[in-house]
Amino acid sequence: MVTEITRSHAERKMLSEAGYADPAINYYLEKKYMGHIENADIISQKVGSCGDIMKIYLKIDDNHLINDVRYEITGCAGAISAAMAVVDLIKGKTIEESLKLNDGDIFKVLENIPEKKHHCIQLAVKTMHKGIKEYKTKKIL
Ligand code: FES
Repeated sequence: MVTEITRSHAERKMLSEAGYADPAINYYLEKKYMGHIENADIISQKVGSCGDIMKIYLKIDDNHLINDVRYEITGCAGAISAAMAVVDLIKGKTIEESLKLNDGDIFKVLENIPEKKHHCIQLAVKTMHKGIKEYKTKKIL
């Protein structure tokens, strides 16, 4: 019988052999910010060049601080780990600080993912930027 532990051990080994570093693998396996926010201030969506879809939910307070973030993702391990890392980097930050975040910042947190997956980081960052820009437009900031 295949247990959860055996399955996650097998996934970890596969991802590691494919070129994912441990922090990226942990983000992918834990998926701690996957899901939605019921009363989000903004919900935005972006489709990557690969056809994968990311939806972001942002909760932003009156001081423009990002209080909570969730992603719904139809996509690969690279997309999921990158999006989870984005959340750790923007939670508690202002929207302006978050807009300055780039692909390199996410790559540093993940430590490594396969080169052909770098566009997945772009998708996670672009989706976040799109959500914040739409929030600014909505609030006339
Ligand atoms: Fe589409 Fe990774 S292959 S986001």
